[in-house]
Amino acid sequence: MTEPRNNAPLNAEPPVFDAAFQQKFAELIAWRRDVRRFRPDAVDPALIEHLLDLAQLAPSVGNSQPWRWVSVDSAAMRVKIRENFIRCNESAASAYQGERAAQYAQLKLEGMDVAPRQFALFCDRATPQGLGVGRQTMPEALDYSVVAMIETFWLAARALGLGVGWVSILDPEAATAALEVPAEWKFIAYLCVGWPVEEHVDPELVRFNWQNRTSVGRGVLYR
Ligand SMILES: Cc1cc2nc3c(=O)[nH]c(=O)nc-3n(C[C@H](O)[C@H](O)[C@H](O)COP(=O)(O)O)c2cc1C
Repeated sequence: MTEPRNNAPLNAEPPVFDAAFQQKFAELIAWRRDVRRFRPDAVDPALIEHLLDLAQLAPSVGNSQPWRWVSVDSAAMRVKIRENFIRCNESAASAYQGERAAQYAQLKLEGMDVAPRQFALFCDRATPQGLGVGRQTMPEALDYSVVAMIETFWLAARALGLGVGWVSILDPEAATAALEVPAEWKFIAYLCVGWPVEEHVDPELVRFNWQNRTSVGRGVLYR
């Protein structure tokens, strides 16, 4: 376990996000990708520490900061998680027939074989931090806080040129048991992190003709 670090503000004065920054920020959002193809090169641990510091500033219900990181480093543990993925992916593949099944089999849905850093993300559902603010009627707001943190981490990583790949094709109970974490921790995500082999402005699933982006969800209902 690494020691938590103190998150001092980056800048004491309110910054000005000028038009050039706004343009760059829009590009950052557009060029963030879910990455499954990594170079094996190591990532400087200082970069990861920097990203963890930034992610610690993410929004969370009641300021509960319920995310818990597990760095999955040992070869034995990585084999366990990858076998978990393979089992779940075989089962997922059987839900498709014909052309779709053939297409599914071609998709690369994780980068665990190469990604130099891998993290399991949990939500500490028993955290006293935040004193329960905001989660009395929707306790799942704690889980959403972890997801909000992941998006912060994802964008910050992309700004450094690092790729992040989210793997959800896992049996969460088996992964939780394998990782031996406290019983109150709920498995949220498995992240592969490393230098990407390639850069794209369009998602891999679009490029491989699985699912296009659409404007569904862009609309707004007014009441
Ligand atoms: C909650 C969540 C779970 C995901 N799980 C997987 C996964 O198991 N395997 C995978 O290849 N991609 C996974 N992804 C990545 C999505 O497929 C990807 O975000 C989407 O296709 C859009 O591509 P983009 O992130 O490059 O824009 C996941 C993304 C999210 C937000």
